Amino acid sequence: MSAELICFESRCRARYPITEVIYNCPRCGGLLECAYPGRSADPAALKRTWRERRMSNAKLDQSGVWRYREIIPFLDSFDRVVTLREGNTPLLEAPRAAAYAGLDRLVFKHQGFNPTGSFKDNGMTCGTAQAKRLGIERVACVSTGNTSASMAAYASAAGLQPIIFIPHGNISYGKLAQALEYGARTFQVEANFDQILALVRTLAERLGIYLLNSINPFRIEGQKTIIVEMMDQRDWNPPDWIVLPGGNLGNTSAFGKALREMLEMGLIRRSPRLAVIQAAGSAPFYNLVQSQDRGRLTKVEHPETLATAIRIGDPVSWPKALHEVTSSGGVVEKVTEQEIADAKAQIGLCGIGCEPASAATLAGIRKLRTAGVIAPDADVVAVLTGNLLKDPDYIYRYHTGQLTAPDGAKLNSTFGNHPVVVPNDADKIAALLQ
Ligand code: F0G
Repeated sequence: MSAELICFESRCRARYPITEVIYNCPRCGGLLECAYPGRSADPAALKRTWRERRMSNAKLDQSGVWRYREIIPFLDSFDRVVTLREGNTPLLEAPRAAAYAGLDRLVFKHQGFNPTGSFKDNGMTCGTAQAKRLGIERVACVSTGNTSASMAAYASAAGLQPIIFIPHGNISYGKLAQALEYGARTFQVEANFDQILALVRTLAERLGIYLLNSINPFRIEGQKTIIVEMMDQRDWNPPDWIVLPGGNLGNTSAFGKALREMLEMGLIRRSPRLAVIQAAGSAPFYNLVQSQDRGRLTKVEHPETLATAIRIGDPVSWPKALHEVTSSGGVVEKVTEQEIADAKAQIGLCGIGCEPASAATLAGIRKLRTAGVIAPDADVVAVLTGNLLKDPDYIYRYHTGQLTAPDGAKLNSTFGNHPVVVPNDADKIAALLQ
């Protein structure tokens, strides 16, 4: 099957070989995506094959990304694919979170079950496979933490050299620790994510390093499989809504592309609506969708949120994300720091847990429910993007009443669970438990 890169801009649509090392269209500067002209599919046969592969011990089949390789056919050979058995993440029922949001039922697709604890692994196995195919040995990214943790792991596993750039002081220690442990050369830059992305793009070009941010179209291919796997797990019955947090908007782009392609290939009959949730202090995409002029995104100069994973003011993939949200009949919402923190505690009480950015989903659903946008009996899947252990400091502060918003306001420990210091004395402890 042929694969190529195509400019996402409808007025350009220039096409380039799949092995060209470019991240934007050389002609118009637009974003690029992978395209597979002439692809035809037998949906029933594909569904059968994908289901059968779940029984296989072959490493590609065990990967929740490469199991679906027919929907991401950009490689001409799988020899150099490195898999850590990414994907394979569960759908989890969360009745308590459903009640909190005012829904009859709510299911989480928990990407925190991935090898490095976030959805980035789905994309990174593809990005590193493309780097290997191109014969480029050094890979780089700027990150709010999860991309760097994932890239470090996959690059090291693939025998590549990972180089990461992170905003100094603004990523959680859990994520920084992963990058160090997985052997990435780590630069803590005194700038924010948006500023560092510009810097890294210059460096990548100057030094011939392969860029593995979500602007890389091969990462988007991998992240598509989050939705393919979800549909497979639901026996190809699309939900009414898919809710996800929005930062740099790569995931929104990937989910929308997955839905379009699954419709085209006859794998599903109707598309769910996408609901993208941003933190109020870092909500340029929300502002764009509210504005009259949707042709230009106004960046948030100083993005702020304790959900540092989505602390991004100038999301590169906004043109794709706008297209995907619009064509799915979707919405964009924003939520406060308090709403995120409380929603996160509610997810925890389901025995599930996640990192702060992921909890924006539940906070957003609650808001959209109250506004009547999401119906109480809607079939909703929310994507939890990262593992609870990514940011334990935030959790401890919330539960002990020490969480402070970026503007200095103290957040309420609404569902706080204070640990109690006790003497080594059975009677006294028994008395407390009575
Ligand atoms: N949730 C988590 C846990 C994330 O790490 C990110 C992004 C998002 C949501 C937003 O996804 O950017 O595709 O809209 N983290 C990136 C990083 C930016 O560097 O790890 P997006």
